[in-house]
Amino acid sequence: MNDHSTDEQSSRKLIIAIDGPAGAGKSTIASRLARKLGYVNLESGAMYRALALKAIERDASFDDEAALVKLAENARIQLEPAIGGNRTLLDGRDVSSRIRERDVSEAASRVSVHPKVRAWMVARQREMGAGGGVVMEGRDIGTKVFPHADLKIFLDADPVVREQRRMTQQKIKGDVAASVAAELRERDRRDRTRVASPLVAAADAVVINSTGLTEDEVLARVEGLVKERMRD
Ligand code: DC
Repeated sequence: MNDHSTDEQSSRKLIIAIDGPAGAGKSTIASRLARKLGYVNLESGAMYRALALKAIERDASFDDEAALVKLAENARIQLEPAIGGNRTLLDGRDVSSRIRERDVSEAASRVSVHPKVRAWMVARQREMGAGGGVVMEGRDIGTKVFPHADLKIFLDADPVVREQRRMTQQKIKGDVAASVAAELRERDRRDRTRVASPLVAAADAVVINSTGLTEDEVLARVEGLVKERMRD
């Protein structure tokens, strides 16, 4: 290997897809990996959440596919990757915190079942990631958005562990914990059983089960795979 080939390898801008259920650790790993590589971290879920928020604010039915597509077409949904946390803008307004609330989580899960809503999202996500140098996370990135991604990770973990992580992340305790856990299970079920692009590992994805692993261990594994792909 000469210096020239090393330069070429390090400047190759990969498309990295990280898919998996909620609470498996995708966001943390994706943002840490992107930071290390100098890549952009795009959270596709934030786009579904932004559209869901718009539907809530406009009083649109989550079951009305045509109305939701129209809302999407008239919305400006921007993902702004930033150190210290990605920002999501909806029609120029910073909705980064609002879209994490329970009502929006539920609505996002429901609006994301519609094939035409998904088609609109997938087209935007392809435009955003086309140039490479991107770590995109979601449910269908390796199967649908970038079926030719350079590296596909499917990050999973035991359901109980995922629920616990979510509770810790969102500082949820006491009585609400049980209902939040039940909502998470229901969203999971909807993701895995919907007809359009259900949550499933791509045939060529590397499946990592993070149940007994620390964040650093998962990251080290993913970084090892990135290095391999850069050599390919
Ligand atoms: O990853 P998240 O929890 O922020 O995603 C919000 C919702 O959007 C979730 O219910 C699944 C859905 N989603 C999807 O269907 N496809 C994606 N690529 C990303 C998210």
